[in-house]
Amino acid sequence: MRKSVGVAVLAAGKGTRLKMPVPKAIAPILGKKLVDFPIQAAISFAQKNHLDFHIGVVTGHGRMEVENYLESEYSSQLNDNLSFAFQEQQLGTGDALKSYFKHDSKMSEFDYTLILCADTPLITEKELSTLYSAIMQNDALEAVAATFEAMDPYGYGRIKRSKKGFTIIEQKDASTEEQKITEVNSGLYIVKTAYLREQLELLTDSNQAGEFYLTDVFKSDVDVAPILFESAEIFQGVNSLIQLESVAKKLSQRKKQELMQNGVYFIRSESNHIDWDVQISESVTIYPNVELYSGTQIAKGSVIETGAILKNTTLSESVKIKAYSYLEDSLVKSSAQIGPFAHLRPNSQIGEEVKIGNFVEVKKSIFHKGSKASHLSYIGDAEIGENTNIGCGFVTCNYDGKNKHKTVVGKNVFIGSDSQTVAPVTIGNNCFIAAGSTITSDLQDGDFAVARSRQVTKSGLAKKFLK
Ligand code: UD1
Ligand code: MG
Repeated sequence: MRKSVGVAVLAAGKGTRLKMPVPKAIAPILGKKLVDFPIQAAISFAQKNHLDFHIGVVTGHGRMEVENYLESEYSSQLNDNLSFAFQEQQLGTGDALKSYFKHDSKMSEFDYTLILCADTPLITEKELSTLYSAIMQNDALEAVAATFEAMDPYGYGRIKRSKKGFTIIEQKDASTEEQKITEVNSGLYIVKTAYLREQLELLTDSNQAGEFYLTDVFKSDVDVAPILFESAEIFQGVNSLIQLESVAKKLSQRKKQELMQNGVYFIRSESNHIDWDVQISESVTIYPNVELYSGTQIAKGSVIETGAILKNTTLSESVKIKAYSYLEDSLVKSSAQIGPFAHLRPNSQIGEEVKIGNFVEVKKSIFHKGSKASHLSYIGDAEIGENTNIGCGFVTCNYDGKNKHKTVVGKNVFIGSDSQTVAPVTIGNNCFIAAGSTITSDLQDGDFAVARSRQVTKSGLAKKFLK
C-alpha cells in the first residue's frame, strides 16, 4: 500500500537577528525565499518515494505575508496539498507541532510526519530520502532525527545516545559534561504520526527556556534513532545576514555546477550571480561578471558578454548580448545582437536577426525581423517593421508631458541619422527619411520626407568668425 507523509514546515519565527523588514521564512535568497527550499525538497522527496503527502506550514510572525507568498507560489502545483497552521504565540517547537495537528484533523492520518525548519535551505531530497529509508527499514522505530558532528556544538541540542533510544539536551539545559557532546540535533525529523500525537500531549515546559520542546519526544527507553550525517554543512541554518549570504553562496555553487554539467560554459563562474530559477540551455557561454536574475531563460548557443545584467528576460537561440547591456522583462529572438551598453526596458520584443547597438534604449517596443538601431537612439512605445534601418541618434518623441503615444514604422524604411518622430505618427513601408528630420505627420508607403531648414553657404565668410 502507498505510504503517506504529512510535512510540517516550521516557519513561525520572526528572525529578529536578520534585521529585515520581512519574516525570516520569506527572506530573499537567489530570487526565491528561504522557505521555498525546504518546501521544494519535501515535494521532490514525496514524489521520488511515491508518498501521498500534504504540506502544513506553521506560521506566526508575519503570518499573512508568508501565507500570501506561498499561496501564490504553490497553489497551482500543490492544489489542496498546502495549508497553514497559525501558531499564535511562539511557545516552542513542540507547541508549533501542536498547532500543526490542530489546524486540520487530516494531519493526524498520515503514516509519518516529516518535520523541517523554514530556515535550513541547504537540505535536499537526498537527505530526506536517507532519513526516510532509515525509519522504513526498521518497523520498530518510532522516530528518527538527523544529526551531525558540529565543530562548535554551542547552541544546538546535544544527542545523548543510550542503549535503546536517545535524548536531546538543549544548550540551556545541558550540564558541563553534556555540553562536551559534539553530535548535535539538526532539527530535521521523521516521526510516526501516531507516536508523535501521543508524545505531544505529554510535553511540558519545565525546562530552562520555559518552552515546549519538540525534542522531548525522543526518549532513552523508546525505539528512536539518531541518524548521523557526514556533512554538517547541509544543515546550516540562517539566523543572520552573514549566514544568509553564506547559504546563498552554497546554493549558487550548486546551481552553477548543475548548469556546467548540462553544458553551460562559464569563463569564471565565481564572478556570476545566477538566480535559482534561471534556465540556461547547453552551448551557452557566460562571460565574467554577468548577472542573471529571476525569470530569465536562455536558449542554446547564446553568448552573454561581460557585465551584462538580465532580469526576467528570454533569449532565443544564438543571441549575442554584448558587454554591459541591461535587459529587463524582455524577449530577444534568435540570432539578434544587443549592445554593448544597450538598455532594453520592460516589454521590449526584439525580433530575429535584429541589431540593437551601443547606447540604444528600447522601451515597450517591437522590432521586427532584421531591423537595426545601431547607435545612440531612444525607441519607446514603437513598432519597427522588418529590415528597417534606424540611423544614429534617432528619437521617438513619445511623451507630451501627460500621455504616451505610439510610433509605427513600416518595413524597409530608412531613417536618417539625428531624426525624430513626434508620436502619434505612422510611417508606411519603403519610406526614406532624410537625416536631421523632425517628422510630425504620417508618411504613406514609398514617401520621402525631409524636415529641416535649408543650408545657407556664404563663400569666404568663415574668416570673420575664426579667431
Ligand atoms: C532547535 C532544536 C535544537 C536543534 C536546533 C537546530 C528544539 C527545542 N531545539 O533549537 O535541538 O539543535 O533547532 O537548528 O526544537 N519555531 C516555531 N514556533 C516556535 C518555536 C520555533 O515555528 O514556537 C520554528 C522557528 O521559526 C524555526 C524552528 O522552529 O524555524 C526552530 O526553532 P528555533 O527557535 O530556531 O530552535 P533552536 O533553539 O535553534
Ligand atoms: Mg534555530
